Amino acid sequence: MAEVNMERIEKTAEEILKKLSLDDKAKFLSQIVWETTDIHQMHEKLDKFLLADGPAGIRRLKEYFDEDIYNTRPSTSYPSPSTYASSWNRELVYQLGEHMGKEARQEEVDAMLAPAVNIKRSPLGGRNFEYYSEDPYLTGELAGEFIKGIQKEGIGACLKHFAANNQETRRMNINAVIDEETLHETYLSAFEKPVKEGKPRMIMMAYNQINGEYCASNTKLLQLLREEWGYNGVVVTDCYAAHDLGQGISKGLTLQMPGEGGERITARIKGLIEKGMLTEEQLNQAVIKNIQFALEAHGSREQGYTYDRQEHHDFARKLAEESMVLLKNEGGILPLSKNERILVVGELAEKPRFQGGGSSHVNPWKLEIPLEEMKKLGSNIDFLKGYTLEGNTQENRRRLGEILAEAPKYDKIVVFAGIPDLIESEGYDRVSIELPREQNGLIERLAETGLPVIVVLSNGSVVEMPWREKVSGILECYLGGEAGASASARILFGEVNPSGRLAETFPVHLEDTPSYLYFPGSSETVVYAEGQFVGYKYYDAKKIPTAFPFGHGLSYTEFAYERPSSRAGENESSLVDERCGRVYVRIKNTGVRAGYETVQVYVQKQVQGKSLCPKKLVGFAKVYLQPGEQREVVISLSEKTFQQYTSREHCWKKTNGRYEFLVGSSVEDIRLRETVEIWDVPDVMTEDSNIGDMIRIPGMYEKLEKVFADHPVSLNFLTMTRDEDPLKAISMGSLMTLRTLKRTDVTLLDKDIEMIISEINKEMEGK
Ligand code: BGC
Repeated sequence: MAEVNMERIEKTAEEILKKLSLDDKAKFLSQIVWETTDIHQMHEKLDKFLLADGPAGIRRLKEYFDEDIYNTRPSTSYPSPSTYASSWNRELVYQLGEHMGKEARQEEVDAMLAPAVNIKRSPLGGRNFEYYSEDPYLTGELAGEFIKGIQKEGIGACLKHFAANNQETRRMNINAVIDEETLHETYLSAFEKPVKEGKPRMIMMAYNQINGEYCASNTKLLQLLREEWGYNGVVVTDCYAAHDLGQGISKGLTLQMPGEGGERITARIKGLIEKGMLTEEQLNQAVIKNIQFALEAHGSREQGYTYDRQEHHDFARKLAEESMVLLKNEGGILPLSKNERILVVGELAEKPRFQGGGSSHVNPWKLEIPLEEMKKLGSNIDFLKGYTLEGNTQENRRRLGEILAEAPKYDKIVVFAGIPDLIESEGYDRVSIELPREQNGLIERLAETGLPVIVVLSNGSVVEMPWREKVSGILECYLGGEAGASASARILFGEVNPSGRLAETFPVHLEDTPSYLYFPGSSETVVYAEGQFVGYKYYDAKKIPTAFPFGHGLSYTEFAYERPSSRAGENESSLVDERCGRVYVRIKNTGVRAGYETVQVYVQKQVQGKSLCPKKLVGFAKVYLQPGEQREVVISLSEKTFQQYTSREHCWKKTNGRYEFLVGSSVEDIRLRETVEIWDVPDVMTEDSNIGDMIRIPGMYEKLEKVFADHPVSLNFLTMTRDEDPLKAISMGSLMTLRTLKRTDVTLLDKDIEMIISEINKEMEGK
């Protein structure tokens, strides 16, 4: 792969731009279906650039003008994003990016329209299988790695859909009404890290409106991207989503996908310039970014590159193995052993569900079949269909009877259940989170026989499991891609120790979910009335029981959590070092098998002046330990851990308060906790600083006590602050400033005040 020299590219782009006529520049703003227009005719160093979808594998159409979006060249079908997000493994997701980047190289694609990082606001969201999580932190961490992996291969990543594209119902025009804090804390923060650290070459604006402005021309969104986050790449519309092109381009949009070609785009751009709705300088700003992209793409291309298909298939399996989530394993019913008599039930064991529908759909290179993979590992396996996905009631009833008669001959029953293909796709939302009725009925009846029943699920997003208390085991495979079948078989037979963790909550009922009353909104508007309480944040705050909580996932081994060994300068070991922004914890594998533990750090803030802050994931690490092995795990916290978005000042700010850190194995399985207090005091103290702020500096209370010893009134105010809960900070003592004290306490002189200020500031400098 050729090295790309950005400095040279920027220079060349400027030279090219200078030579382009207005007509040519206008042509640079549109794509025709998947390719840019004939820009190669404008300069010898320019080539058309080619885009392809990508969150679950590369979807390169055989013919670019084909109406059939499923007529694509075969490529590796990787686990869907909802699946691989459950790996909680940054390194593996980076490697996935590399693998997809290599496939793009072979297919001569210049940018992949992935990753998609919208938040799973409702379990009904039709594209939830394409998205990572209900949590912005986890989403951002993984998406950033995915982008870095793709771009390492010289292929552009396109982060999408910016922003709040959280439903399919009326996705092209719905107006998402979201309060500013929720928008930033939940929906935009999922994009921030991928933009700033992943530096994708492209960002796709969403179809919908946010607070009354279409995303593709939304002033606030584009300004955030360009001015605050310093994003410098191509900004493209989603398909046909350019609404106010003049406003969009003037604020930072650079490309419409697809767009008007030839005469139409030139006429439109000239019209906008004539009417003063766009300046040529703004047009240049957009065009130069597209030129740079074309040059970068041109520079990275190499003819004849091929990837190793088998290696990619094996990687898809590894990814699926690390992503599938063992939800339940009562009495250690799993793993299965080779010689047990096992009855496999369910049409999905023969016809796997391995991906979602719509623009992420790929044509798999080598699709595995679950039943065949089970038979490779077990020597006593029989199969009965039990149900068909089309759901012929009479036939299914007959099949159920047959299974009930046969079941007692077996040691264990493994039921493959899941959501049929047509229910989960881009373009529409789900209307329910129930499995098909015949599948639920079959599982219930089998569980009633008293035989051990293990349910193996294939679905892209959450389902209700009314039978979850009655069955012995549940393996959530999500949509495992082309090698998902061998991955699940290897987990079921214990060749792989499961390590996936839920990246979303499985509620007991749909009605329990936070956006239940508001999703998908009216004919024009959807109000995000649940605010920041999305997913686990809501269940946690309202103490609503869940079927399986966020972060949950079992292993065939067990782990103990302990406090770390004490560090230099500490008397006793603490979990949190808030100055360095780190959490330390000792993890020990107490079982007999090697395996992964995913250590999760949540924070529950009690912040001054705020009634309830949602509990938040702020860090995690996945560690592999041999039996008996222990390790001290260090988890870095981002500065956002101690910040909140304030709509008063329109920015993120460090917030004073008490922060309870919770370290555990899921949001509900907390093993260790520690509270730290953060008091962000002014950098320099003056006469106008609060006594309450001064005493936050360690040792300062005692110093002030000495200075005030001869000034009884001041001493009295100081003493009032001693036992005050800083979260409330209502006593006159902590609200007093030195200036107000001086007015109240006649014995306090200017020289005393000066001495105190200089003392405090000296102390603070030393910190
Ligand atoms: C989807 C995008 C996709 C594009 C091209 C749109 O309908 O929203 O995610 O990249 O089509 O297939």
